[in-house]
Amino acid sequence: MKTSEVVPGVYRLSANIEDILFEGFWPIPNGVSLNSYIVKGEKCAIIDGVCNWDGVPETLFAKLDEINVKLEDIDYVIINHMEPDHSGWLDAFKALKGEFTIYCSVKAKKLLDAFYGIVDNVVTVGSGDTLDLGAGRVLAFEDIPNVHWPETMATFDTLSRTIFPCDAFGSFGSVSDDAPYDDTLGEEFIEFFQRETERYYSNIVAAFSYPTLKAIEKVEALDVKVIAPGHGIVWRRDPYRIIRDYKRLAAYSKGPAKPEVAVIWGSMYGMTEMAVRPLVNAIEAEGVPVRVHRVPESNLSHVLDSVWQCSGVALGMPTYEYKMFPPMHSVIDEIGKKKAYNRKAFRFGSYGWSGGAQRELDKILTENKMNWDFVEPVEFNGRPTEEDLSLVRKRGRELARKVKLWALESSSTEDE
Ligand code: FEO
Repeated sequence: MKTSEVVPGVYRLSANIEDILFEGFWPIPNGVSLNSYIVKGEKCAIIDGVCNWDGVPETLFAKLDEINVKLEDIDYVIINHMEPDHSGWLDAFKALKGEFTIYCSVKAKKLLDAFYGIVDNVVTVGSGDTLDLGAGRVLAFEDIPNVHWPETMATFDTLSRTIFPCDAFGSFGSVSDDAPYDDTLGEEFIEFFQRETERYYSNIVAAFSYPTLKAIEKVEALDVKVIAPGHGIVWRRDPYRIIRDYKRLAAYSKGPAKPEVAVIWGSMYGMTEMAVRPLVNAIEAEGVPVRVHRVPESNLSHVLDSVWQCSGVALGMPTYEYKMFPPMHSVIDEIGKKKAYNRKAFRFGSYGWSGGAQRELDKILTENKMNWDFVEPVEFNGRPTEEDLSLVRKRGRELARKVKLWALESSSTEDE
């Protein structure tokens, strides 16, 4: 855990978490940071927390000592978001400090009781409410529901114009203790965090893209100078860079995304696999980049990252017990739940005694209102013939052209 000064009177306490699956199932090969903030006026507030700290209360004491804050100096605890990666420290904090006052949204109050048995000294706040810390420092609260849970709010320090939006504007990726800010990192590292932002967004935030755009509108109206999220780096030099990235990623929900194609495929005995390379070659021959994932070998986290960023998706799977190859079913269902709408798409694959994949695919598409625009599928009985492969190539080119046309139409609409 490390402390640093964000702006005068505002401090970041952060821990890098590695060797876990985030939310119990997302791989984080580059780790993730959990950020907490201390804001000092005449009174002192702590905003969000670091999951269970590191299990050692002395670490918290030591870190507070570094910034000349004693535990007894903390007057208010502000909980922007109840997911336990940010609130899981409350049990440890209660054991150390005893009584304290929590500021949170109305909806968060119920979860404080459900998760931690906390019912007393809870002040509920929402958009328009403020908390005066003295010395000219007033915190303003803004509801940003569903970024990422319904109870989420952001806290805004009106003195330094720093916003603490918790999950919003966050990313995966451990943060160097020496350079946790965009103005202390080289461009290479900023780009690393942008890539980690893309996968974080598709895994954690994607399903809430509409509320995210609403939250961004609120943030843009505040003349924010610093964005201090609950995960990732703090944006001091160019907070609008991460706002632009989040706007771009949220817009991918309805599309178009990038003029690229994600080819997601699974194969049992290599028959469907025989069509993958001809398809990829045909798409690339149209000048459209391809991201290829085999399932279940490729983790869902990376598949979602690609699908979210691609306007086109090709799905290759064999029939399995009169239905779709189960790992593909699971992946496509999750893509639907993440609300990747309006993709240009193509399905191909092998069957033995009967088809059945299309029926199941249609069910997922309908249930999730995905509105994907498919070119005609190619199904082959057993091993694909040269004629089948030729048809796969043809459909691949059609898909690539649709993706390019969508990009073209979109850019001409933007130009108008
Ligand atoms: Fe980082 Fe939704 O918690």
